[in-house]
Amino acid sequence: MKKTTPKEKYPLASVYGLFERPLERLIGKWRKPLLEKAHGEVLEVGVGTGSNIPHYPDGVHITGIDFSRKMLSKAKKRFSHLSSVDLLLMDAEKLEFADDSFDTVVVSFVFCSVENPVNGFREIKRVCKDNGRIFLLEHVRSKKPVLGPLMDFFNPLVAGLFKDHINRNTLTTLEKAGFHPDTIRSENLWLDVVKRIEIVNVS
Ligand SMILES: C[S@@+](CC[C@H](N)C(=O)[O-])C[C@H]1O[C@@H](n2cnc3c(N)ncnc32)[C@H](O)[C@@H]1O
Repeated sequence: MKKTTPKEKYPLASVYGLFERPLERLIGKWRKPLLEKAHGEVLEVGVGTGSNIPHYPDGVHITGIDFSRKMLSKAKKRFSHLSSVDLLLMDAEKLEFADDSFDTVVVSFVFCSVENPVNGFREIKRVCKDNGRIFLLEHVRSKKPVLGPLMDFFNPLVAGLFKDHINRNTLTTLEKAGFHPDTIRSENLWLDVVKRIEIVNVS
């Protein structure tokens, strides 16, 4: 019987190598500060090629998941020799972990492409321990009068081509997924588009 190759789920995976370096020059500086309070058992959702991994503090154990075989295989080439890192093929919307499994959850530039972000955030809330910390870097829709509508205008094109939604209201989505607004702290890193978000997971 003919073997079929599973469909690659991240359309940018094949060309990611081309823009990874220039992208890293722009966003790399935000990684270490994002991760400095990570502790204990860490889940990284959408680990990609593993660009956050060198920036974690010592002593953490990282479980990185991604639904892209290509992205994950690059991460495995770089980091699977480390006993403190496990890399698994998994969908953020269907995390195969028990409730309250992780002290820290980390996500960077992933929820623009998760198909149903409310489901993904509900899963993160479920697997993160009570009082655990969730650290996110995400680009979101701007609230500025020209930029916001421009992002709405171009979103169908960008989402259609790359499965990357440039007009998501991620802070509202977090509340829809059950995170109380008082537990969410957000800071603008670039305009009001790139945000660093920190959440305390209280039930
Ligand atoms: C722009 S890359 C970011 C990779 C990495 N987090 C970083 O900061 O370099 C987005 C990653 O999210 C992954 N991703 C998107 N939706 C996902 C989902 N539903 N489940 C798991 N991974 C997902 C993609 O496969 C891709 O590797």
